[in-house]
Amino acid sequence: MTDGSIAALLDGTLVDPAEPLLRPDDLGVLRGEGVFETTLVVDGHPRDLDVHLVRLAISAQATGLVVPAPDRWRAAVAAVVGAWAGGSQMVLRLIASRGPEHGEPVCYLLGTELPVSSRRQRRSGVRVLLLERGFTVDVGASAPWLLAGAKTLSYGINMSALRHARANGADDVIFIGTDGAVLEAPTSSVVVARGRTLITPPDEAILAGITVRRLFRAASAAGWPVRTERLGTADLHAADGVWLTSSARLLAPVVAIDGRPRSDGGLTGELAELLDMPAA
Ligand SMILES: Cc1ncc(COP(=O)(O)O)c(C=O)c1O
Repeated sequence: MTDGSIAALLDGTLVDPAEPLLRPDDLGVLRGEGVFETTLVVDGHPRDLDVHLVRLAISAQATGLVVPAPDRWRAAVAAVVGAWAGGSQMVLRLIASRGPEHGEPVCYLLGTELPVSSRRQRRSGVRVLLLERGFTVDVGASAPWLLAGAKTLSYGINMSALRHARANGADDVIFIGTDGAVLEAPTSSVVVARGRTLITPPDEAILAGITVRRLFRAASAAGWPVRTERLGTADLHAADGVWLTSSARLLAPVVAIDGRPRSDGGLTGELAELLDMPAA
């Protein structure tokens, strides 16, 4: 481990995370070609690992990448988790970079401490800006080459949107389609509450979030109505609560939209419980 991080190859060999691993001509570096997953390991237990491995395979198929079978990833995850000497919450990334032209994908794992900012945003929430994403929800079907629902290494636009938010006094972003539809955040899904009904946009052109699915399963079992529905910006403002959900930060209440403060309807604690969110 170096500076609170750990890395391993798929055979479980630990490598120094401060040392280079990819070739300069790896297409993951040159063109952002590759796929990945992020999960949270809590007290040595990776959350929803099987579901992440299924989604990794779906993203790989969408990008024409052949990645190792789930069992090989599972063994490597066990090696990283076993060697982790950091805190109780580790952010674990499973990465498959396309590798050099005509070469094999380069697959590895990277574990890091859960950032302090994620812990803070779970408690204190996030101020978001609504930003134009430049496509409609229909691109999933009409332009599959845009890879709208795949989790690829091409996160340049997402990171740029986050920088834009931070330069303008916000913490995060909710992307809006050109037709006005609420899509997702750069690294999270969007959930709103209308009364005690939980709603998330359909995943036609966005990543099918594992955290929101887990939340909806638990909420539904506890008697909350849950559904997917196309939402517009007026629905965000009118909602009784708005949250961003993702595998590492898990749940963050939205406390302001475009500078307008908003409440969480007093529901964040209950949703955190449904998500089995770690205490700190
Ligand atoms: C673009 C995008 N949407 C949604 C999510 C939330 O997905 P999950 O809950 O599976 O982490 C992520 C997570 O990284 C993401 O990058």
